[in-house]
Amino acid sequence: MSATPSSIPEAPGAWPVLGHLPALIHDPLGFLSSAADHGDLLQLRLGPRTFYLATHPELVRTMLVSNATDFSRSKGAAGASRFIGPILVAVTGEAHRRQRRMMQPGFQREQLKHYVVGMTAAAREAADSWRPGQVVDVQKTASDLSLAVITKALFQSDLGAAAEAELRGTGHDILKVARLSAIAPKLYAVLPTAAKRNMGRTSAAIREAVTAYRADGRDHDDLLSMMLRAEDAEGRTMTDQEVHDEIMGLAVAGIGGPAALTCWIFHELAHNTVVEQRLHAELDTVLAGRLPTGADLVLLPYTQRLVKEALRKYPGWVGSRRTVRPVRLGGHEVPADVEIMYSSYALQRDARWYRDPERLDPDRWESKESTRDVPKGAWVPFALGTYKCIGDNFALMETAVAVAVIASRWRLRPVPGDVVRPVAKATHVFPNRLRMTAELRTFATPRDPVPGTAPDSATAASCD
Ligand code: HEM
Repeated sequence: MSATPSSIPEAPGAWPVLGHLPALIHDPLGFLSSAADHGDLLQLRLGPRTFYLATHPELVRTMLVSNATDFSRSKGAAGASRFIGPILVAVTGEAHRRQRRMMQPGFQREQLKHYVVGMTAAAREAADSWRPGQVVDVQKTASDLSLAVITKALFQSDLGAAAEAELRGTGHDILKVARLSAIAPKLYAVLPTAAKRNMGRTSAAIREAVTAYRADGRDHDDLLSMMLRAEDAEGRTMTDQEVHDEIMGLAVAGIGGPAALTCWIFHELAHNTVVEQRLHAELDTVLAGRLPTGADLVLLPYTQRLVKEALRKYPGWVGSRRTVRPVRLGGHEVPADVEIMYSSYALQRDARWYRDPERLDPDRWESKESTRDVPKGAWVPFALGTYKCIGDNFALMETAVAVAVIASRWRLRPVPGDVVRPVAKATHVFPNRLRMTAELRTFATPRDPVPGTAPDSATAASCD
């Protein structure tokens, strides 16, 4: 006899009427992390609505990959970007397949190399702006940095300079507006916010850049050139409006994840002397104070493992899929048109899949052997399958570059008395706040120039 939804256990901690809303609002990370103790598939009540929570990697993989055609994108995820238009992060089905095909070339490994110069320049801008002893708002710096990275990757030609400047000025506003429009679409429609007004100016600058690029016709090795060249299966290219909307969409999708990751890496380095020393040793040996190029990244395996391990410990807190028909999951029947959530944060900190999960251990990823036993559904920072993050390698690369540039030159120390704890913000996990004091580093190898002190060093010009 097949099980019915009523046979799916309810997660503990439900309140009358409100259900699990108070638990999810008060301590979402704690709630989701302890849920697996109560079953592989649980029911959650959020006010009058029933949701489901998959806590086992096998079920998550079934939803995202093996039986992916039974599931669609969650309504909430799509809603956050719907105000922009039918863009990649918001659409489903055939429209998604078309947009994905058009956007994919800009994110292929070979293409990513072209963005390293912009990534390095953005990280250097941040590193150049500090003085020894300065208390840095790391969260703001990291958000500004990832916004700078995406805008530089979009517009590498001077033809896009005005659009780049506008988008860097308003990118964070676009995120705010995206959240507002997702939570309260009717309120958003009538609210005359400054953020909405600023977006109008940014939109105009982006349209001008698109027109200028089209007229110019050259390939500038950037995301905008790639979008203008992309063709769908019928050989049609994207309209100016579609290109404009996807640019805005990348500002919504591409900032939070790398920013959160960068914050946590510097927080962890300040509390893990051995990891920090190994990172510094690698950077000093390979880069010796110069800025990294695309070719250097393969020479920085420890830096890359550190980024991956930080992403294991601090991925997004929740993902979701919607059933398009009744499905069988974990031995239970789940109805059509319901949301099933999963938590990368909980899965990637579960001691059943990762030994000593609270420990930041980059060597976990040293060889395939060391993670052989991790089930595929327990490594889902970028989701998997149809709607998997298109910017996964872009994000890993920009974070490795940021860490290499900043840690070559600075140690960031915690501010005494500050308590740093993870909080769920949109879909990512950020520190509640992260202030750190910048200390200028000295090199392990004395022959090497200390960045910012050698008169001809690439970093010296804007250091003083
Ligand atoms: C550490 C950084 C990042 C994390 C953890 C992350 C995570 C994710 C996740 C979990 C999804 C799937 C959402 C779903 O299941 O519906 C996603 C989708 C997406 N991400 Fe990322 N992301 C990161 C960085 C980026 C960057 C840097 C970009 C752009 C440059 C980007 C662009 C996108 C886009 C366009 C989608 C939608 C893909 C599609 O539906 O085909 N992300 N991201």
